Amino acid sequence: MLRWFVLSIAVLVGSFMFPSLSFQTFNFKSAHAAEMVLPEVQVWKSPSCGCCGKWAQHLRDNGFKVKEINARSMAQIKRSVGIGPKLKSCHTAIVGNYVIEGHVPAGDIKRLLKEKPPVKGLAVPGMPLGSPGMEQEDGTKDKYDVLSFDETGKTDVFEKH
Ligand code: CU
Ligand code: CU
Repeated sequence: MLRWFVLSIAVLVGSFMFPSLSFQTFNFKSAHAAEMVLPEVQVWKSPSCGCCGKWAQHLRDNGFKVKEINARSMAQIKRSVGIGPKLKSCHTAIVGNYVIEGHVPAGDIKRLLKEKPPVKGLAVPGMPLGSPGMEQEDGTKDKYDVLSFDETGKTDVFEKH
C-alpha cells in the first residue's frame, strides 16, 4: 500500500516537472538554432591577395558562408562604401547591412550581428600581424583594435586584441 502511495506521489510530481523541463529544452534548442543562422559574407579582394583568402577561410572555419569576389579596383570598392585612408586595409566585405574592412575576427562580427549597434561597420586598419589571416610562423602578434565607424567617419573602439 505504501509503495503505491509513493509511486502515485512520484507520478504526480513528475507530471508537474515534465512540462517545465520540456519547455526549457525547446527554448534552448530554438536559441541554439537562431545562433547558427549567419548571413553570407561577401568579400571583395584583389586576386593576388593571399591574406584575404586566409581571412575568408577563418570566417568559414567559424560557421560563415563566404563569397569571394575578385575586384579589379579595390580603391573603387572602398570609395563606394566609404572606407577612407584612416580605416583602409586589404579586403572589404559586406555582411547583413554592415561593412567589414580588413582582418576583423569572426567573433567580433558575430557580436556585431547579435547586438546590431547603429554603426556602418567594423574595421581593422592596416594589417596587424597575428590577426585572423595574418598569422605569423614565428607566432608574432601585434596588439590591435577593432574599430566601429559611422556614416560620418567617426570611430570607436569595438574590441581590443
Ligand atoms: Cu590582409
Ligand atoms: Cu585581405
